[in-house]
Amino acid sequence: LKITEGKVSYKSPSNIALVKYWGKKENQLPQNPSISFTLDACATTTQVFYNKLPKPSDDFSFELWFEGKTKDDFKPKIKTFLSRIESYLPFLKEYHFKIETSNSFPHSSGIASSASGMSALALCLVAIERQLNPDISDSFFLKKASFLSRLGSGSACRSIEGDIVQWGNHKNTKGSTDLYGIKYPYEVHDNFKNYYDTILLVDKGQKQVSSTVGHNLMHDHPFAVQRFSQAHDNLDKLITIFKNGDLKEFIKIVESEALTLHAMMMTSMPYFILMKPNTLEIINKIWEFREVSKTNVCFTLDAGANVHVLYPENEKDVVFQFIKDELIAYCENQQYICDRIGFGAKK
Ligand code: PMV
Repeated sequence: LKITEGKVSYKSPSNIALVKYWGKKENQLPQNPSISFTLDACATTTQVFYNKLPKPSDDFSFELWFEGKTKDDFKPKIKTFLSRIESYLPFLKEYHFKIETSNSFPHSSGIASSASGMSALALCLVAIERQLNPDISDSFFLKKASFLSRLGSGSACRSIEGDIVQWGNHKNTKGSTDLYGIKYPYEVHDNFKNYYDTILLVDKGQKQVSSTVGHNLMHDHPFAVQRFSQAHDNLDKLITIFKNGDLKEFIKIVESEALTLHAMMMTSMPYFILMKPNTLEIINKIWEFREVSKTNVCFTLDAGANVHVLYPENEKDVVFQFIKDELIAYCENQQYICDRIGFGAKK
């Protein structure tokens, strides 16, 4: 029985790195291991309709719809992705695909949608493969989806599962690999269950530096060797911290990683400053509040000006009140997104 048409759908979340991936080798392999909290609210939902072509085409045959409208400017990115994964999904040129996608977060919020978007599409394509060949096991399915997501956008490979995902070879993490993300395999203290992340949208503009350009800046970077080895050390420390629940030590790693990411951009050639004045205002407010309130609120950053405010569940009321009273004023149009740790992609 040859399946000629069908439909699959996945909702896949974004993730926020605690130890950052910044710098890659050939084939989207990372220069250092990274680890992230999978998010919950920030997600992309993608549906793919597939129809068998009368004969295999020379090029990929697909149309792209984003929130109800055709989106031709995303097509080159998708085409590059499909050509990278073609050898792993040999049916790609035998079908026409209608890809419909939407994000849970506002357009042009400055929130990177590549992790959620690429992982949702990768999941749909592996789900189609599974409809064509139902022998694929669940664990192989998840690994393959993460492996293919990585070829779309490196960090996307950390969005398939939850709640903590590690990607990249690290000698002290069993099962870790550069090829795909794995669920963090060791004990995690209750302090880290249901962690909160409120994302402050400081600057909703286009990203000043694409992550491709950013990763490439690590190639001739004067501090690259030290940085990559620091990521390994920070992962070692996190293993102990996740086990014993030491939030003070957790904060040191997470904030230092965020500032190091930005330090790498400031010290590359060409150099960039991606923080905005309000990014620094927010960081200073968080530090002051942490001191006086004796809470464990901290920040992390992506490759942009927005601030992720992280805090444990048992401090959520007091910290969220502080965010509303003191931090929202620094956001563009007062916009922010309430998110928390999530458990990975869903059908
Ligand atoms: O997945 P990419 O290529 O867009 O890189 C993302 C890099 C950071 O978000 C800055 C860090 C990370 O580990 O997610």
